[in-house]
Amino acid sequence: MKNYEPKLVCFSCRFSWGYVADEVSLARQVKNWIPIICSGKIESTHILSAFQHGADGVLILGCPEGDCHYQDGNFEAKKRVYLLRRVLESYGIEKERLEIRLSLDPEGKTIPAIVKEMSDRLAKLGPVKKAKEHAEKASAV
Ligand code: FES
Repeated sequence: MKNYEPKLVCFSCRFSWGYVADEVSLARQVKNWIPIICSGKIESTHILSAFQHGADGVLILGCPEGDCHYQDGNFEAKKRVYLLRRVLESYGIEKERLEIRLSLDPEGKTIPAIVKEMSDRLAKLGPVKKAKEHAEKASAV
């Protein structure tokens, strides 16, 4: 698809990712960069709302397992992502469009590579097709 630029929304825990990173350059790379206090604060509705408003993918960056400043926020986020990936699949939306990374990179040096990897994946998948289109394709087979 020519000139297709996937829309990626990234929620980033400020404690472990990009806390001191160059937020201006991050903002240039990902237009929808949302710093958050903890990945556990992201509700399912926030993620679904991103897709509903045109996101092609959602990336969540949280603290490493066992290192969340709010005890188990990252663990809760990981569970939420696991379940939501199944929900998205049931609507014909590829689960690869939603990802969570739990690690530590306070300077945000690995973020550009992670964002590029996800953007490349989304570019291959193309825009999110509406559930109706998926249903029509499925019934035509
Ligand atoms: Fe970073 Fe909870 S404080 S994921």
